[in-house]
Parts: sequence; structure tokens; C-alpha cells
Amino acid sequence: MSYNLLKGKKGIIFGALDENSIAWKTAERAHEEGAEFVLTNAPIAMRMGTINQLAEKTGSQIIPADATSVEDLENLVEKSMEILGGKLDFVLHSIGMSINVRKGRHYTDQKYDWTQKGTDVSAMSFHKVMQTLYKADAMNEWGSIVALTYMAAQRVFPDYNDMADNKAYLESIARSFGYFFGTDKKVRVNTISQSPTPTTAGSGVKGFEGFFSYAEKMSPLGNATALECADYTITLFSDLTKKVTLQNLFHDGGFSNMGVSTKIMEAFTKD
Ligand SMILES: NC(=O)c1ccc[n+]([C@@H]2O[C@H](COP(=O)([O-])OP(=O)(O)OC[C@H]3O[C@@H](n4cnc5c(N)ncnc54)[C@H](O)[C@@H]3O)[C@@H](O)[C@H]2O)c1
Repeated sequence: MSYNLLKGKKGIIFGALDENSIAWKTAERAHEEGAEFVLTNAPIAMRMGTINQLAEKTGSQIIPADATSVEDLENLVEKSMEILGGKLDFVLHSIGMSINVRKGRHYTDQKYDWTQKGTDVSAMSFHKVMQTLYKADAMNEWGSIVALTYMAAQRVFPDYNDMADNKAYLESIARSFGYFFGTDKKVRVNTISQSPTPTTAGSGVKGFEGFFSYAEKMSPLGNATALECADYTITLFSDLTKKVTLQNLFHDGGFSNMGVSTKIMEAFTKD
């Protein structure tokens, strides 16, 4: 169902790799809600993914950008404003990658140049995106910037590895940059802390199925899907949430406030 929540709004969506991606669902929902936007992803992901189909479906143009390259980001922001005919109202940062995770390197045995690369891609890129937008004065007043995160930033999930540290850094950047974006430009910055979701990035974490079903049994409302995450993101891009900023917003069916659930107790109780 469409509510025209983003009618007339313009934005940039990072991170749609395939139809499972949270960014992909967000692009589809933003299109349904009347937004116009540019899609972007790392040049390598463009070759692997199917982003052209999404562009066609949503009437969007694609501009490749490695989110760790300030030069690419400057080009992206400048070209997006040209294509969309003005400043932006929303930006989605839906980017994450850890080489240590991908190559099965244990947290206690990290290869630090991989760690650095992962931090650059998963966290510092958010600073780079915002600094580029800020310097180019590319955001309209009451615009909204959202990045996606995971609760391993606050609690221990051993197999989430160095991504836990990257997410803690990402959430801190949202608050610190959000202060300046708020006071100087009236733009809000938030992170959404999403349930485990079966995407390329999500399923790449060791033991994903285990903590996916654990979270499902623990959450009073069950895990939030990628489409539900897209819906929540749309509300944050809309004018209905203008004074929400500097927040890490849990979108997890209630998981983050649980101690134990009956379903989990049953799994550990002998008959
Ligand atoms: N899937 C989950 O369980 C889950 C849970 C909470 C938060 N998140 C977060 O949601 C976000 C989106 O991930 P997803 O689950 O949709 O997976 P995904 O694999 O579909 O998306 C990750 C995206 O990051 C992009 N990317 C990687 N390196 C990049 C670079 N250098 N420049 C630009 N883009 C780059 C990839 O190409 C891909 O499109 C990530 O921040 C992820 O950590 C995911």
C-alpha cells in the first residue's frame, strides 16, 4: 500500500546488491511512496549484482561509487543533484563488509589490514558520505540520513567478529555527525538496528541460521524482515519523524529488550 509519504522527495540509496538486499526493498518502497532517487553501489558489486533491473523498475539512474573513495562520493553527490534537479531529502547507507568474516578469520586472530578495510567500508564510509554531503551543502532542510546497524554494537555475538566493532563506530559517527548536521543544516541522522536478515551480507556471518532462529524465538513479534525494515526506513525519510535524530532505533521485533522467552526456556527445559 502507498501513502505518498515521499512525494516530491529526492535521495541516494547505497547498497542494493540483489533483491534480498535491505536497500533493494527500500528503493522499491521509496519508489512506491513517490520518491525519485539515484542508486549506487561499488563498481565490483555492479558487475556481480542485478541493480540494472531495480533501476529499470524504479525509473532510477545508477552511479557507481566505492563508498571508501571520497573522490567517487564527490562525483556521486554532484551528479545526483544534476540528475534529480536539486538538493537531496534522504540518503540510505546500507553498506557492510568484513574480510575477516568472509574468510573465516577468528576475532582473536584478525589480520589487521583486513580489519582496517572492513572498518573503512562498514563505518568510516558513513563519515565520508556525510562529510561529502555536508561540504557540498547537498541536503535540504529537514532531510534525513539513515544507516543500518546491528545489535552486536552493544551486546556480544561472538561470530559477528570485527563487524561488531565496525557497527559501534558507525553508530557513534551517526551521533557525532548528526549533531553538526542538525545544528547547521536541520538534517536528521539515525541508525536502524535491524534483526538478522537473510541477505548476502547477513548470511555470510558464521552461524547465521542459529542466531536467526534464536532471535525469532526470543522476539515477541518475531524477526523483522527486509521489507519491514524498508517500511521503517520510509517513515524516517518522511516528514512524520522530523524531530527524531541522533538515535539508534531498534527494529527487531522486541529482541533487544528481552531477557528470555518461553520458547527459548522450553528449548532448554527437560521434560
Ligand atoms: N542482513 C542482516 O542480518 C543485517 C542485520 C542488521 C544490519 N544489517 C546491515 O544492513 C546493511 C545492508 O546489508 P544487507 O543485509 O542488505 O546485505 P547486502 O549484502 O545485500 O548489502 C551490503 C551492500 O554493501 C555494499 N558494499 C560493500 N562494499 C562497498 C563499498 N566499498 N562501497 C559501496 N558499497 C559497498 C555491497 O555491494 C552490498 O550492496 C549493512 O550495513 C548490514 O550490516 C544487516
